[in-house]
Amino acid sequence: MLEKFQRYPLTFGPTPIEKLERLSRHLGGKVEIYAKRDDCNSGLAFGGNKIRKLEYIIPDAIAAGADTLVTIGGVQSNHTRQVAAVAAKLGMKCRLVQEAWVPFADAVYDRVGNILMSRLMGAEIELVDDGFDIGIRESWQRALAEVEARGGKPYAIPAGASVHRLGGLGYVGFAEEVRAQEAAAGIRFDNIVVCTVTGSTHAGMLVGFARDGRQRHVIGIDASFTPARTRAQVLEIARNTAELVELGQEITDDDVVLIEDYAHPAYGVPSEETNAAIRLCARLEGMMTDPVYEGKSMQGLIDLVARDHFPAGSKVLYAHLGGVPAINAYSYLYRNG
Ligand SMILES: Cc1ncc(COP(=O)(O)O)c(C=O)c1O
Repeated sequence: MLEKFQRYPLTFGPTPIEKLERLSRHLGGKVEIYAKRDDCNSGLAFGGNKIRKLEYIIPDAIAAGADTLVTIGGVQSNHTRQVAAVAAKLGMKCRLVQEAWVPFADAVYDRVGNILMSRLMGAEIELVDDGFDIGIRESWQRALAEVEARGGKPYAIPAGASVHRLGGLGYVGFAEEVRAQEAAAGIRFDNIVVCTVTGSTHAGMLVGFARDGRQRHVIGIDASFTPARTRAQVLEIARNTAELVELGQEITDDDVVLIEDYAHPAYGVPSEETNAAIRLCARLEGMMTDPVYEGKSMQGLIDLVARDHFPAGSKVLYAHLGGVPAINAYSYLYRNG
């Protein structure tokens, strides 16, 4: 589906799929749980889902003659850290706007984890005191104008690399990769569980899996706590991406499966249940998840299995999208494990 698009390699290649044996057994053994490790997809500052998206965006930045990647996220954004890493790798500059999206105050929140790495990689960082919003922000547009005013050539990457013409392509590629891995292993996944916030990860998968009729088997777990916005954004990106890749099939509202039950109490703030899921997964599998994104989708996966949402014998694929560097910013919360 992606042959006609340019791809700038930033990942190691196809990411491994591993069975989570002990977690599957712990949850009753009726459902086989697997994880696709996009958290281990690249050597660029710990990688993650944005690196996969950026492989299809960077050729456009290079063609545009850009010298500065400009993007936006929260203070502990994984996305901005990955853009900073890609800019460093390409010899470009990086300008980041980091907003106060998360109502969480750890003493070291703005000094460790993602933002620490972005600073080390030489990104120019502006902290802005605005709250969470997945839309287009004035602060980001101002940053673009500033780079231009200084004589630079900015390239605009929106939050999560999502509302970008090419933002959905990386995860179309993920679906194609899964299909090839399924064929090689002689298995087929009944469902794919993915954490959803700015939307292009879920949207890309939706388009990719629509190819074999599995678009409604992609289960998005909302972590935004503004699910109506996220849902609308997934649908819009999926429709645009479907057109771009010439899917030949319309993506409908019902194709977007987004479960809203696990994002509370706020974006970036874990509930007791989220923390229990993070601990369970860490202790049974040695697989780390974070309190902002993957801990919430892990919580959703565990709860759905426990509530017999999946028929016995199902094979469920958990998309691990990265995000672990942020746990450092929650050090007080996890001081006793
Ligand atoms: C670790 C992690 N998981 C999930 C997501 C959600 O992906 P998306 O914003 O494409 O919906 C993000 C980024 O927002 C992320 O950094």
